[in-house]
Amino acid sequence: MKIAMIGAGYVGLVTGACFADFGHEVVCIDNNPERVATLGRGEIPIFEPGLEALVRANEAAGRLRFTGSLADGVFGAEAVFIAVGTPSRRGDGHADLTYVYAAARELAPLLKGYVVVVDKSTVPVGTGDEVERLIREANPNADFSVVSNPEFLREGAAIEDFTHPDRVVVGVEDERARAVLAEIYRPLTLNQAPVMMTSRRSAELIKYAANAFLAMKITFINEMADLAEAAGANVQDIARGIGADNRIGGTFLNAGPGYGGSCFPKDTAALVRTAQELGSRVRLIETTIAINGARHQAMTAKIVGALGGSVSGRRIGVLGLTFKPNTDDMRDAPSLAIIGDLHDRGAEIVAYDPEGMEAARPLLPGVRFGASPYDVAHDAEAIVLITEWTVFRSLDLPRLKAAMRTPLFIDLRNVYRRHEMERAGFRYRSVGRPGEDVN
Ligand SMILES: NC(=O)c1ccc[n+]([C@@H]2O[C@H](COP(=O)([O-])OP(=O)(O)OC[C@H]3O[C@@H](n4cnc5c(N)ncnc54)[C@H](O)[C@@H]3O)[C@@H](O)[C@H]2O)c1
Repeated sequence: MKIAMIGAGYVGLVTGACFADFGHEVVCIDNNPERVATLGRGEIPIFEPGLEALVRANEAAGRLRFTGSLADGVFGAEAVFIAVGTPSRRGDGHADLTYVYAAARELAPLLKGYVVVVDKSTVPVGTGDEVERLIREANPNADFSVVSNPEFLREGAAIEDFTHPDRVVVGVEDERARAVLAEIYRPLTLNQAPVMMTSRRSAELIKYAANAFLAMKITFINEMADLAEAAGANVQDIARGIGADNRIGGTFLNAGPGYGGSCFPKDTAALVRTAQELGSRVRLIETTIAINGARHQAMTAKIVGALGGSVSGRRIGVLGLTFKPNTDDMRDAPSLAIIGDLHDRGAEIVAYDPEGMEAARPLLPGVRFGASPYDVAHDAEAIVLITEWTVFRSLDLPRLKAAMRTPLFIDLRNVYRRHEMERAGFRYRSVGRPGEDVN
């Protein structure tokens, strides 16, 4: 099939490359000229494992190309995906649909023949109706359908997620569009991936319900971690003990510094807003947001407490800045709030992240960046591990200790074990595992 993808960001680029790999002919369009130029030079503007090879292979096979021109990109397309950003609207938490509506308006006059417009961006329930209305208003003779096809890929594992999804959700209101989407996803159905067809409104809401549930699950285990600390229990054992129950499931039960990233914070806020507007509040999610919003303060308190009550003038080395490993995405990363708190209290921060430092630099004025974990440890009075990149799982502990002024290791991801840190001569603090901590 001929597919156009509006937006070549984390989702558009991965989706476009994967569709091309399925055998479709794909054009990715982005209105950021720098992004298109970067892609034109054969470079990938984001860090996502495996993406570069996939893009190169499909470009070489003539199935994938990039353009800054919408008219060029959508010419002849049977399906046009909208994969533009939907950030939080300043002030009220509603999803900012400016980019989605702009894309729909620009697209409308270019539609020729029957075209399925597929919304892949995460958008509030009813947005598909509005996209349909906007296109019809701008081009009353256009022959088109609007479909909702929310994306569930995770940054860092995006290609694997896209090609081996737990499910594909398609919200579609008519038979013609259903057939087009079935054809697009046929390679996945052949692999037994469940493609779930539902109404457009249900599909839109499924995406928010999924993210809200996952955010709630993380927040639940974080509260259990606090309780475990108060009760002298181990939250990792609690997670294992409850996660073994199929009805609960073992994933997303890692206690830590709170959820962040480009999706959960904005999507939970948008769901709360939608629910309020519809007069059907989602109080569990409202509370989830409030608890998560205070999480960074609890982490700061843990760090300050471990340092004896004050961080003023103390050098702290930070390992990991991105909101999770294997991405360079710094959007709403918990590290930003924690480092901000520490900085406000006078701490001197030196940070290292394998992929996130370029994006982090403008967001963290006053922070120094190191070239390696050992560089960051130099003369530090504490190391705080915020993001569990694989390289931080196998640190050379004697080397790290030798570089530090005082060997205090605060592990906000529960990567290490008490006995190994004790053996290496560290004081150790973790999350929800008081028995693991070394005093
Ligand atoms: N990032 C994720 O992990 C993820 C996962 C699932 C769903 N989503 C959702 O997918 C959507 C896109 O997210 P993202 O992370 O890829 O965003 P992004 O900011 O990385 O990419 C969006 C891209 O769209 C481009 N763009 C904006 N308006 C345009 C227009 N009119 N024409 C052409 N290009 C335009 C921007 O230049 C940018 O490159 C959001 O709604 C997000 O919530 C994201």
